Amino acid sequence: MTNAKLKEEDLKYIFHPCTQMKDHERLPLIPIKSGNGVMLEDFDGNKYIDAISSWWVNTLGHSNKYINEKIKAQLDTLEHVLLAGFTHEPAIKLSKKLVELTPKGLDKVFFADNGSSGIEVALKMAFHYYSNKGEQREYFVSLSGSYHGETIGALSVSDMGLYKDVYNPILIKTLQAKSPQNQTIEEAKFALDDMENILKLNHKNIVSVIVEPLVQCAGNMNMYHPVYLNGLRSLCDKYDVLLIADEVAVGFGRTGKLFACELAGITPDFMVLSKGLTAGYLPLSVVMLTNTIYDMFYCEYDTKGAKSFLHSHSYTGNPLSVTAAIAGLEFLENENILQKNQDTIEFIREQSLRLKELVSVTNIRQQGMIFAFDVLGYKSEDRIGLRIYEFALKHGVLIRPLGNVVYFMPPYVIKNDEIIKVFDVMIDAVLSL
Ligand SMILES: Cc1ncc(COP(=O)(O)O)c(C=O)c1O
Repeated sequence: MTNAKLKEEDLKYIFHPCTQMKDHERLPLIPIKSGNGVMLEDFDGNKYIDAISSWWVNTLGHSNKYINEKIKAQLDTLEHVLLAGFTHEPAIKLSKKLVELTPKGLDKVFFADNGSSGIEVALKMAFHYYSNKGEQREYFVSLSGSYHGETIGALSVSDMGLYKDVYNPILIKTLQAKSPQNQTIEEAKFALDDMENILKLNHKNIVSVIVEPLVQCAGNMNMYHPVYLNGLRSLCDKYDVLLIADEVAVGFGRTGKLFACELAGITPDFMVLSKGLTAGYLPLSVVMLTNTIYDMFYCEYDTKGAKSFLHSHSYTGNPLSVTAAIAGLEFLENENILQKNQDTIEFIREQSLRLKELVSVTNIRQQGMIFAFDVLGYKSEDRIGLRIYEFALKHGVLIRPLGNVVYFMPPYVIKNDEIIKVFDVMIDAVLSL
């Protein structure tokens, strides 16, 4: 099919995610033919640096040979089997590895198949934990500016009016605490005070606090100090509410460490992982939990199922996805990626100094392999994010600003000359406004 035909047929049949389809009357779709490393190539031979890791999933490059080979081998062995009553070697191997790698105390793995479904599992399990203890608690606490996904529970604990407001009548019960607005310790303490006020008043009716450790990604790449996480862990202990760490976007090396919680030295009660879990290859998520939670569900089966966690997804623990995850972790280890990332992180920091010269750029920030800045002087109706996106595409870079927040979150295999190119294009894009 030609490029033009692909676009035509696409618009005839596909309703795209997170898209006002009418925009495509003007904005051309880009059918992608292939990916290699950080590069995506379209059907006209144009190449784009995937500077946002295809919605933050791709950590180790497109078409990574090592991962490809492992998936191909698994494909000829077992493509899928249900995980209830049955099990398979890749699921066991990955679970063991994740228990070793995640913070001490997270000793069990519950599989799901995307970030939002992982969040649903954690929310439901946390609610059910107290129910099994004989307590009916109804509220979840989340932070301003948070984002945890699009399913009803995940959306309820998110603070994205644009995605959420229309569904308000059907959401679950939540309370909202202030998130720290910058990376200072003072701001972390200020936000902790707000959290404590909420917990003090309502803790008997609160199931859990859910948080995106260190970076609220969809929430304008808001970054905060690890001290907030330490304080939050202490508050959750003090008021006996569970802590859910949503590392869907920041897990697997994004923040500089394998897991963001490591930077604060805390163990949450649940840790939800997806995106980089399979290095961006296949849909998969896991919920890591403590044995204390697990034990609360371990009892004789009763026909009403009141105490058992009878949650499932058909593709739970799919062997191909799990194999991609194991291969990704092996690649990270064998190629010493996290160590190499330290140089990349430093190089991004050096490049970011160039932005300081632009008067319309403010709030330049970085946490590991996530870099962001704000562009001043435009209203949301100006849709400058879209203008920057279009400009960057024309110049061979895929970035998708969040409103007036431009960010860079590349696959870890990006090279210095490619980083320079992304910064060149981001600067030119801002100057072109
Ligand atoms: C922090 C966080 N949690 C959950 C999700 C939802 O994951 P998914 O898009 O796989 O449902 C996202 C997606 O961007 C996310 O950034």
